[in-house]
Amino acid sequence: MIHPFSSTLLTWYQAHARDLPWRNTKDPYVIWLSEVVLQQTRIAQGTPYFHALLHAFPSVHELAEADEATLFRIWQGLGYYSRARNLHKTAKYIAANGGIFPNNYAELIKLPGIGPYTAAAISSFAFGEPKPVVDGNVFRILARYFGVETDILHASARKIFTELAEGLIPADHAATFNQAIMEFGSLQCSPVPQCASCPLQPSCVAYATDRTQMLPVKSKKKPVRERYLAYFIFEYQGKIWVRQRTQKDIWAGLWEFYLVELPDLGPSLDVLSKDPCVGPWFTELDAFALKAPAPHLLSHQKLISKAWHIQVPDHFEMPQSDEYQWIEPQDFKNLGKPVLLLNLITDNLSLQELF
Ligand code: ADE
Repeated sequence: MIHPFSSTLLTWYQAHARDLPWRNTKDPYVIWLSEVVLQQTRIAQGTPYFHALLHAFPSVHELAEADEATLFRIWQGLGYYSRARNLHKTAKYIAANGGIFPNNYAELIKLPGIGPYTAAAISSFAFGEPKPVVDGNVFRILARYFGVETDILHASARKIFTELAEGLIPADHAATFNQAIMEFGSLQCSPVPQCASCPLQPSCVAYATDRTQMLPVKSKKKPVRERYLAYFIFEYQGKIWVRQRTQKDIWAGLWEFYLVELPDLGPSLDVLSKDPCVGPWFTELDAFALKAPAPHLLSHQKLISKAWHIQVPDHFEMPQSDEYQWIEPQDFKNLGKPVLLLNLITDNLSLQELF
């Protein structure tokens, strides 16, 4: 027997579904690509990236064979770059297995970057498996409708909400139910809910008890960490000093200028004399202060930055670094960069001329 929640939701979806480009396919590659792009990303922001990626890599084989720099360049600006790296890793694995996607949840979830949400999305949308998607939308809708008080940041929350959703998903309409519940979370039971026009309102616990703004319960927000970044664009014999960021931090895989991270950005450049690499010779050079980028917000970090352009005289003996390399500005242009640095270049005429 279909639960009244589910039948109402499916009827609502028939009337309200948007025609989104990944909804008219059962191709697991296309579905996977769309879901990875849409993780932590709004539809309006993600859609152009989805089209660009699908255009550049029409099948898992092209994606597997792409070089990482090309993928990162297309991904540039979308953030959460580990998604791109996992996408590439998984594409290589699937291509090596004949391009065939696993056709069930249990196998899909073993792949890099595919968690419970994405595995449920692919297995239901492509193969009709009745696995419910459980994301922020689903937490919100179910917490409100059933009056669930569990803290959604608590370790037990996913299991509790998944079991609840498993009791609601109709075995023969799994794909539609999952699309519908996400759409309902976007359009109807949004953070500020549209209760007046909601078909589930007559049986919604949160509405009946005037708690739509209290549910879902979400405890302690992770505090925003402030980071202070001083960038130096060293130009020497027509080349610039850059590095590719390492894997564990923000912007893994992207390229940047010489960076000194500091406890604060202080009033002057003196702090840089303490940098082990640049410090000993830095004071002998003229640093041209660039227009600083606006503070850049990531999900849990605020990046406050300043930047200087330094033309190193040709006769100067340049210290070497294991991490940084000298490359032509033209080559830097083609590498994936953080949006913060793209903004820095756009805002400074002298850099626009250089790149
Ligand atoms: N957000 C994540 N996946 C989505 C989908 N398939 N449709 C709409 N919004 C989404």
